[in-house]
Amino acid sequence: MSINEVRFLRECDSTNTYAKEHIEEFGPVAAVYATSQTAGRGRRGHTWVNAAGLALYYTVVIKVPVVQPETLPLLSSLAVRKQLALRYGVDCAIKWPNDLLLGGKKLVGILCESVSYGTNSEGRAYLCGIGINLAQPQSYFDGAGLPYGTSLALQGVKVDLDADPSWLAEGLTDFGFDRELYTFGPEGFAPYREEYAAACVNLGRRVTFDLPGGTGAGIATGIDDQGRLLVRTDAGQEHVFTGEVSVSGIYGHV
Ligand code: BTN
Repeated sequence: MSINEVRFLRECDSTNTYAKEHIEEFGPVAAVYATSQTAGRGRRGHTWVNAAGLALYYTVVIKVPVVQPETLPLLSSLAVRKQLALRYGVDCAIKWPNDLLLGGKKLVGILCESVSYGTNSEGRAYLCGIGINLAQPQSYFDGAGLPYGTSLALQGVKVDLDADPSWLAEGLTDFGFDRELYTFGPEGFAPYREEYAAACVNLGRRVTFDLPGGTGAGIATGIDDQGRLLVRTDAGQEHVFTGEVSVSGIYGHV
């Protein structure tokens, strides 16, 4: 049983949207989760396709102060990675900034947003929305046109659809976020940098990334304390923080 409120809705439009609409009802660290979303949202304006009853859709609401909110996507990926390791013994890789991969395919997507609330919009909350593919069969990904998607079940993991969504939602809320926020809130990403780098699939690989008015390419060499991807290019070192980053050998990139 969680020490924080973890609200279950069998179905909603999007747990991020729901959290926004009910933001005043939540305490300092709380969460909402569902196993079906009718209007799931992904990064960069994409939709997040529903898999009714076969996936976990989870959003944590953070109302405590956070010094480096732009690195919440990276913290979130570590939080999910840890809970999946505890529950299933799996070792997910992180594709910068926050996709989790298993068997080289995407298992988890994360969308972080911020929202203001209160009579004069004086409150600031952060939402970390997390979609975990639990038990979709291959036909689901084929039908949805997601050749690089996978689920735990497809990776040979035994999933209990009755027990696992609540276990994961409560573990993420209490241990993945609430406890870590005692460190991450005031100190930011730096204390997590090494753990993150050890799991980051980009490092040592050739990557291409967006630049204003074009793309750049080089070898990813590290992560800095601001959570930026360090890339060695012909023109020198770039600190990449926004846009899409493709990694050679991942999602079909050469
Ligand atoms: C991505 O594009 O990779 C991010 C996907 C994020 C999906 C999750 S599912 C729970 C939460 N609710 C949403 O509508 N989106 C996020």
